[in-house]
Amino acid sequence: MKGVILAGGLGSRLLPLTKITNKHLLPVYDRPMIYYPIECLVAAGVEEILLVTGGNSAGDFLRLLENGTDLGLRRIHYAYQRGEGGIAAALRLAEDFANGDKICVVLGDNIVEKSIRKAAESFEAQESGAKILLKEVHDPERFGVAEIEGDRVVGIEEKPKSPKSNLAVTGIYMYDAEVFDIIKTLKPSGRGELEITDVNNAYIRRGSLTYDYVDGWWTDAGTFDSLLRAAKLCAEGGANNA
Ligand code: DAU
Repeated sequence: MKGVILAGGLGSRLLPLTKITNKHLLPVYDRPMIYYPIECLVAAGVEEILLVTGGNSAGDFLRLLENGTDLGLRRIHYAYQRGEGGIAAALRLAEDFANGDKICVVLGDNIVEKSIRKAAESFEAQESGAKILLKEVHDPERFGVAEIEGDRVVGIEEKPKSPKSNLAVTGIYMYDAEVFDIIKTLKPSGRGELEITDVNNAYIRRGSLTYDYVDGWWTDAGTFDSLLRAAKLCAEGGANNA
């Protein structure tokens, strides 16, 4: 499976930290934020990734990551997202890179304690469709929230005021090549973005979305509170452990 890391966007929730640099280059404990999603994919057995980024600091990723081999990759590719059209708009730029293969997408500000290898292997064995990873949280209204019936996800709501569960949809998504056809059908949401939640709901309607739970802790790092939490968790036990 190929990997895609989405590290565009303006990081406006972290201003002024993000005034002169990209959010994903900020430190989380002992390394730049972007290292964690890369290490997550490497630990899952992915050897080739596309990094999508944007803004004025895009060139800094090349200086930092070079050809990716120091982080265990065989190859890293780069794509530039103009503006901030949303997560699904950033993902659209990966179509040629994916070239019909399955992909594992990780948002650049998501960090996990344990390897996601088992979920990746189970998706490799899944004939088609998509898989999302869920995590129980105490503040679901900050995330995409999954509604479960039996062993199926029946719907996902993006940042609902009254969440139907406490299961956050983490920023780790696995897709077959149909994802790019789905993205082409999307309309911008109320916040003017192409939403990844709309992509996942399209797979639910097709009856081909499965889910797993994230082992260990999971956090994003896109707000002051979550950035601090991420640093503490990484300092205590490290991330992407076997
Ligand atoms: O962290 C998990 C959550 O991420 C999910 O539960 C939500 O369903 C999903 O919409 C997303 O929510 P956020 O509001 O936290 O997403 P944010 O705008 O912070 O973007 C997350 C990452 O996606 C960001 O670190 C970089 C990438 N991104 C985002 C945008 C808007 C891009 O590459 N391009 C973009 O245009």
